[in-house]
Amino acid sequence: MSIIIKSEAEISEMLKACKITARAHEEVNKYVKVGVTTLELDKIAEDYIRSQGAVPSFKDYNGYKNTICASVNEEVVHGIPSKRKLLSGDIVGIDIGAYYRGYHGDCARTLGVGDVSDEALTLISVTKQSFYESIKYAKLGNRLYDISGRIEEYVVENGYSVVRDFIGHGIGRDLHEKPEIPHYKMPIRGVRLMKGMTLAIEPMINEGAYGVEVLGDGWTAVTRDRKLSAHYENTIAITDGEPLIMTEL
Ligand code: MF3
Ligand code: CO
Repeated sequence: MSIIIKSEAEISEMLKACKITARAHEEVNKYVKVGVTTLELDKIAEDYIRSQGAVPSFKDYNGYKNTICASVNEEVVHGIPSKRKLLSGDIVGIDIGAYYRGYHGDCARTLGVGDVSDEALTLISVTKQSFYESIKYAKLGNRLYDISGRIEEYVVENGYSVVRDFIGHGIGRDLHEKPEIPHYKMPIRGVRLMKGMTLAIEPMINEGAYGVEVLGDGWTAVTRDRKLSAHYENTIAITDGEPLIMTEL
């Protein structure tokens, strides 16, 4: 399967799913406080998504059982919601997908809980900024891996490392479409960016080394050195001007 280009009409349909995903984050964020469990956050997201007539994208995807992924501290991605209570000083990466009228939206944010160290806050902001730095290249005339390479360049300048085992992806009628999008420098520049490409760019950035491992639950990835990791993701569309950040309100 090759990259599926969306028309302007398709992008405006897909925007509806993306906005629901972004609003689900806004809802969940209100409840990210000391003492809340990640399962409670999962329910808030699911209830909101369903109240909009949408369906959680991740639920039943490859056997995943929940609406959100909630990855705490050294967890990198795909943390499973549980009765674990968030503690002051934790950071939590929350990833949400919503499916509405034939299209998916996908986005992730990392939030601090209570009193968070300056080191953790810096990791969170560098991770977010790596996304914004990279999409300066998300324009016609550039190539896909120009985006990838800029993420790593910015992250390494700031003393962190990029997770290599999980990557971004095209998105649309399927949660995961072509192309695969590494968040690190590639030896080639990759495909030409074209108007109507819709991409989920989702850097996962580690405080220490880039290595990760998957825990016995088959889902939760953690840093091998158990240092912190942060995640930031938006669904974007390539236009003939600036990229459209579809999962921003
Ligand atoms: N944003 C992640 C991804 O695109 C979340 C997927 S969770 C899963 O891979 F459960 F659906 F796998
Ligand atoms: Co994604």
